[in-house]
Amino acid sequence: MKIAIPKERRAGEKRVAASPESVKKLAGLGFEVAVETGAGSAASFTDAAFQEAGARIAETAQAVCAGAGLILKVQRPLPEETAAFDKGAILCAKVDALVHRDEMTALADAGLTVFAMELMPRISRAQSMDVLSSQANLAGYRAVLDGAAELGRAFPMMMTAAGTIAPAKVFVMGVGVAGLQAIATAKRLGAVVTATDVRPATKEQVESLGGKFLVVDPEMEKDAQTEGGYAKQMPPEYFEKQRKVVAEHITKQDLVITTALIPGRPAPELVTGEMVSSMKPGAVIVDLAVEAGGNCKLAKPGEVVEIDGVRIVGHDNVPSRLAENASALFAKNLLNFLTPHVDKDGKALAFDWEDETVKGTLVCKDGQLVHPALTGEGN
Ligand code: NAI
Repeated sequence: MKIAIPKERRAGEKRVAASPESVKKLAGLGFEVAVETGAGSAASFTDAAFQEAGARIAETAQAVCAGAGLILKVQRPLPEETAAFDKGAILCAKVDALVHRDEMTALADAGLTVFAMELMPRISRAQSMDVLSSQANLAGYRAVLDGAAELGRAFPMMMTAAGTIAPAKVFVMGVGVAGLQAIATAKRLGAVVTATDVRPATKEQVESLGGKFLVVDPEMEKDAQTEGGYAKQMPPEYFEKQRKVVAEHITKQDLVITTALIPGRPAPELVTGEMVSSMKPGAVIVDLAVEAGGNCKLAKPGEVVEIDGVRIVGHDNVPSRLAENASALFAKNLLNFLTPHVDKDGKALAFDWEDETVKGTLVCKDGQLVHPALTGEGN
């Protein structure tokens, strides 16, 4: 079976869905791997490195995808990318299926079988296949560095002959995978870190990283987590309380990193315009939820804006800003998902359609939309 790794074509995307390491493993499993020339160059993977790992380099997306039974991609394909795929091919990518339902219908109409990697169930066995985690972890780290670069002050306390510099105060809102890494990174740099989340389990996690937890309402937070580990949409009373607690705290912060998301919904507004105006001049907000509408509505996707002396960083696709690591981990996630379904004798894929990781991510099969969240059966 041929596996195709085309170059990503969405604007600003530097990642690639394979690394020389993952290609080596796929080739070792008996697959024929084709990589489009330059597919890895923005992630520091050269054509030569892919070739050495066992891939064949092809000049065009058409040449890479022709005859491929499996296509590995980072992002949802553009229509011109889909045009290069063979009918009946399998696509594994982060397609954002629940947000782009029409495009899923188009992929089904193109006769594809599609696995939406972002729908990977959050079970311990699937942790190594979870692209949301692997990418969010890097985004959390990068958010701190992006914030530090905008800040006109240092993170650690410094006692110098010219005087003492107080440590920076960093406040992390939303303590999922990205938030935890942001806390750890800011602590390592010497900041004083506080954090908040609706899910009560996060208090202990924040404290174990040396941060201080900002409590909003423990009573309402008791029921804030879904079975899948995600946050629920909170009632308006919670947001009112949260605003009061945050409004006071935020005035003293140098860097605020927001990461709060609710699957399938716009990001909750956590930092209001009023709060921004109350912050210290020179303070910085990094909004990692900007692509989902933003935790701060003043954040602009892909821009750094300044309002009342406060810089609001809205870089989109933050994992792509660490393209080498992000690609290597994404590639490993795909490999870990596929490996249990490799029919080694036939050098092909033989999916166990009853497997939780397969059922959970399968959006269309042989040209039909099948995921319950898309067919209406899951509602
Ligand atoms: P996410 O990216 O969906 O959300 C980020 C954080 O924002 C979450 O912690 C959420 O509780 C928080 N949040 C939402 N609304 C908020 C509000 N109004 N105010 C404050 N915070 C708010 O979450 P992520 O990072 O994907 O992780 C969610 C959970 O899933 C975590 O418990 C994580 O440990 C777990 N997980 C489990 C995996 C597995 O077992 N395979 C893999 C990855 C994560």
